[in-house]
Amino acid sequence: MADLIKQTIIRSDFCSKVYMYSEVSSTNVIAKKIIEERNEIGFVITAERQSAGKGQGGKNWESPQGGLWSSLAIQPQIELSQLGLVPILSAVGIAKALETFDIKPLLKWPNDILFKQNLKKIGGILVEGKITQFKLNYLVIGIGLNVNNTIDQYSKLLQEQITTIYEELRRKINLSRLLFEIIHQIENSFERLKLDGSQSILEEWKNRDNIIGMNVVVQSPEMDYQGKVADISSNGQLVLEISDSKRVNLLTGTVIIRKENI
Ligand code: BTN
Repeated sequence: MADLIKQTIIRSDFCSKVYMYSEVSSTNVIAKKIIEERNEIGFVITAERQSAGKGQGGKNWESPQGGLWSSLAIQPQIELSQLGLVPILSAVGIAKALETFDIKPLLKWPNDILFKQNLKKIGGILVEGKITQFKLNYLVIGIGLNVNNTIDQYSKLLQEQITTIYEELRRKINLSRLLFEIIHQIENSFERLKLDGSQSILEEWKNRDNIIGMNVVVQSPEMDYQGKVADISSNGQLVLEISDSKRVNLLTGTVIIRKENI
């Protein structure tokens, strides 16, 4: 583990402590290590850089200086059947946090944050957790956002696929303020989920959704599906219409928007 720069106490009960590092392998890995080794929960890890950041599907996540690379280590009171809502409510929380900085992103199921004007990816979420005996021990919500970075900090391959807030708006954002706003919004979403169920969160998602009604291919772990996105279900699954009379609900996958939509 790299050096710990600062340990800050914040007001929220949800994430009461922030561990700040200059560089770690992956904030998700460090968060899980602290939970397991110190039996601690309710904190955030944030790093200026990650040397081995992790993305969806075991992919590498490039994390140069200037981005927001953070993991929330929490133990929310949710049903196991609601786990599919965690990336959804996190993405909504991140979008609402960015909106307080006058940046209005779009969301692509299940965990992509897109820059609205060109639909390029500016961020993603990696949720990991541990369940024992049908009980949720903990969740780690890993958040990666390309914020104050320039595009030349990324590999050539990625430069064609992604963008950063700085590249689009030529404006630097205070990363601590953004992180605290994200924590606040995600905490608020978990509270609403507990009190009122998923309806308001799904509405907020749908107001920012980029794929409902589109013809897509979904690469899911077991097979690829082709169809039209009909909805997001009450527990966060993608509802895909694969023929006039047949719909499938997908838990996870990579959505590729088909050219005929464009
Ligand atoms: C994706 O593939 O879209 C998800 C990317 C998640 C990246 C973040 S950066 C902070 C946290 N630590 C990691 O190693 N990954 C997540």
